[in-house]
Parts: sequence; structure tokens; C-alpha cells
Amino acid sequence: MRKLMWTAACSAMLLGTAAAQADFPKGPHGAALEEIQDQEFEKLGTSLEIPAGVDPEVWNAMVPKGNETTPERVALGRKLYFDTRLSEDGTVSCATCHDVTRGFTDQIPTSEGIRKQFGKRNAPTNLNAALLHSMFWDGRSPSLDHQAMQPIINPIEMGMENDAEKIAGKIKDDPEYQKMFQAAYGRDVNYPDMGLALGAFERTLNFYDSPFRRFMAGDEDAISEDAKEGWKIFNGRGRCMTCHTFSPSNPHGSDSKFHNIGIAARAQNFEELAQTAVRLLEEDASEERLDELAIGTDLSELGRFMVTKEKSDIGAFRTPTLTNIGITGPYMHDGSLATLWDVVDHYNKGGEPNLYLDGGIEPLDLTDKQVDQLVAFLFSLTDVRFADQNQKFMEQQQAQAQKARVHRDEELSERKTLTFERYHQNKKGDAK
Ligand code: HEC
Ligand code: HEC
Repeated sequence: MRKLMWTAACSAMLLGTAAAQADFPKGPHGAALEEIQDQEFEKLGTSLEIPAGVDPEVWNAMVPKGNETTPERVALGRKLYFDTRLSEDGTVSCATCHDVTRGFTDQIPTSEGIRKQFGKRNAPTNLNAALLHSMFWDGRSPSLDHQAMQPIINPIEMGMENDAEKIAGKIKDDPEYQKMFQAAYGRDVNYPDMGLALGAFERTLNFYDSPFRRFMAGDEDAISEDAKEGWKIFNGRGRCMTCHTFSPSNPHGSDSKFHNIGIAARAQNFEELAQTAVRLLEEDASEERLDELAIGTDLSELGRFMVTKEKSDIGAFRTPTLTNIGITGPYMHDGSLATLWDVVDHYNKGGEPNLYLDGGIEPLDLTDKQVDQLVAFLFSLTDVRFADQNQKFMEQQQAQAQKARVHRDEELSERKTLTFERYHQNKKGDAK
């Protein structure tokens, strides 16, 4: 186990260098400059249409009444998304952590906000979030429109005081914004409408056109033979499909439910953390406080428990989307797994044991070849507009995985010997 953790940490460092190689001029927190991102965004060619392959009825049910996706609202949301003025020190925008040139995430383990502060959670991509039933790793926010107001007042992220007047005050005097708010919502510049406009904009970030999707639509040549085998493993022996559902109503590969898959277990002091959380949330049950604790403290590891206070939700996180997964590493709520090979290794060994582990997580007994096939399938889930980046990451991750394999204990990883058997073998050896 120590070896596996070492390789994960080591490859995380490698990934750091890889991400830094992107060729765009950078802002103060490592993201591409906002104006460059805006130009790159233009090239992606998004639209206000319901994405192909998604059931229109399902789609329409997810768009909140009163915030229908109009061109004026999307234009306003886009401007706000790239605007660093919404942060306390004027250096952070949504696009700092959800960078257009980095898969609409930041491609680092956990995100950096104002004054170079780091939170405890990995930034999920903003691509294909519109059909998720709740927002954040712990689902504490019900919708995109609601979610978008939270980072602005989170002390680590954008750090504004929770005062609607002060937040609106940052951009109130800008005549362009005055016009745009009126056109979008018929009201003056205000904070709640920022949330609505950002939500409307995010509903246009639909990137489902992957080789896998084309394969499912009948193009046999869209994915490799390995990826086809990987898809079979995904549905069969890997049992991935039980949580990462793919269907016309779930084209993103998430059941929108919460599971403990043995990532958070590394802290191992769940009981103590849970007691602290309950005490602190009794003192202050506000949404704002919950957001602070979830992002900024070790209580982050409790996951869904912070929202429901149900014991069975300890260490449980919402199943993330798998679409565009090739360009949104590192992985998991804490960014602790650097490559998709690390992710599949994690499932292959049955997660990290802990009291609250989901019953669906058991050792899989996949061979190295099957692991490679499953990973090939995962890399086929990225939209063709990001094909170059996807290819680059696949090659980098593969090189890292290859190196890790050389160091890995084959007996253990292929489960010819089980961990406890090895432990006893070693003890016997010591006694001699
Ligand atoms: C400092 C980095 C940072 C900034 C700035 C930031 N985010 Fe995030 N974002 C994150 C992190 C980290 C999470 C996950 C937090 C959690 O789950 O507790 C997240 C989660 C989200 C989610 C939920 C996605 C999902 O799959 O559940 C959405 C949507 C989102 N952010 C949109 C935005 C918008 C819109 C803005 C600007 C108003 C913004 N973010 C600003 C880091 C950031
Ligand atoms: C019991 C439900 C469940 C099963 C089964 C499952 N997953 Fe997951 N998956 C999750 C959850 C929940 C997370 C997030 C966990 C966390 O961050 O602590 C996740 C995270 C991931 C991620 C990282 C996503 C990201 O953006 O960070 C990948 C990739 C992934 N799973 C692939 C797979 C594959 C491949 C399989 C089959 C071998 C599989 N999953 C089986 C629930 C599941």
C-alpha cells in the first residue's frame, strides 16, 4: 500500500509539470489570462441548443423556470465568468479555477484562490454539469444558479463579504453591465441575477461529442478495439456502470448519488471529524458556514455527511461526470489520484477499507491488460474539440503508469498473493 501511495504522490508532481507546459500567458494563479481564455472559448463554438443525444424532456426539466437560456443571459454570464472584479482582491474569476484551456478545471490537486490560499477540494469541471441533480462534491447546492453565488463569498476562493450591495457595487458603475443586466433580466446590476446569468452560461457548456458517443451512435471505427473491450469491462466485471450511469437521461456518466469509495478514508479519524462538524454546524447552520467548512477545513473529508448528518453518508461524495475525463485530472474530491491508471488501480484493489465503504466497491481482479483497456475506454469519453489535449494527457499518463508498474509488486497487484497473506509471509520470514 505504501508503494501505491508513493506512486500516486510522485505522479501528481509529474502532472504538475505537465500542466504547466501549456503555452498560454498566465495570470497570478497559474490560469491562462482571462482575455486569452475568452478568445479560446470563442473557438470552441458552443450554442444555446439542447445538446444532441440528450432527451429534450429531461433537459427542459433541468432548466429553472424564469431563467430560460436566452442569448442575453448567456452573454451576461459569459462576461461575469471571466471577470476578476468579482473577487475581493481583483485577481480571481470563475475561470481561474475553471480554466477554458484546462478542461474548465485547473488541473491541479486542490484549487488556489485569493492571496494564494488553497482549499481542500479539487475543482470539478464546469463541462456537462447542467444535468447533475446537485452541485458540489457533497451536493450541498441544488442548482447551477444557486451554486454560482457561493464561490464569490467563499473566503478562500473569491473572498467577497456576504453583502449583496457590496458585491453588486464592484461592477455597478460599468455601463456595459448596466445594459446587459437590463437586457437579461429587466433589473439593475444585482448579486442574485449574477447567479442566474452564470447558470444560464454554464448550461451552454455541453461537450458530449466524444468518440464513445459516436461509437454508440453506430460509428464502429470511432474508438479503438481496446476501448471497446474497456466498455465491456465498464459494464461487466468492473461494475462501473452501477454508479457511472450512461443513458439518454444520464449522458454524463453519473447517478447523481453519493458513495464512499474509499478515497476519504485516508484520514481514518471520521468519528472525531463528525463530532466536530455537528458541533460547529449547531453553532452556525448557515449555508455560508457550511461552504467555508467544506472547502476550507479537514471536515471536507466527511463529504455528504456535512449536509445530511447521516452516519451512512460519512466520506461519501457525488459520483462525478466521466465525460471529458481525459483532460480534467488529477482525480477525486481531493485530487489525490494523478492518472486514470491510478484511478483504475484504486478500484482494482477494492478501495481503501473503511467502516463506511460502499457495498459496490470490492476487489476486481483485473489484469494489467484489462486495466489498460478500461483506461482506453475512459480516454474515449472526451469531446473531439479537446482531442489534442486528451491525446497529450493520455501519453503522459501512460508513461507515468508504466514507470509506476515497474516499481509495483506484481504478486500483490494481480492478487496472486493477498495483502494479509503477504503480511504473514513476511512475519514468518522475520521469525527465521
Ligand atoms: C478558487 C477556485 C475556484 C473559483 C474561483 C471558483 N470555483 Fe467553482 N469550484 C471550485 C472547487 C474547489 C469546487 C468543488 C467544491 C466542493 O465540492 O466543495 C467547485 C465547484 C463548482 C461547481 C460544481 C460542479 C459539480 O460538478 O458539482 C460549479 C458549477 C462551479 N464550481 C462553478 C463556478 C463558478 C460559476 C464560479 C465563479 C462564480 C466558480 N466556480 C469559481 C473551485 C473554484
Ligand atoms: C459505488 C459507486 C461507484 C462505482 C462502482 C464506481 N465509481 Fe467511480 N466514482 C464514484 C464516486 C462517488 C467518485 C468520487 C469519489 C471521491 O472523490 O471521493 C468516483 C470517481 C471516479 C473517477 C474520478 C472522476 C473525477 O473527476 O475526479 C473516475 C475516473 C471513476 N470514478 C471511474 C470509475 C471506474 C472506471 C469504475 C469501475 C472500475 C468506477 N468508477 C466505479 C462512484 C463509483
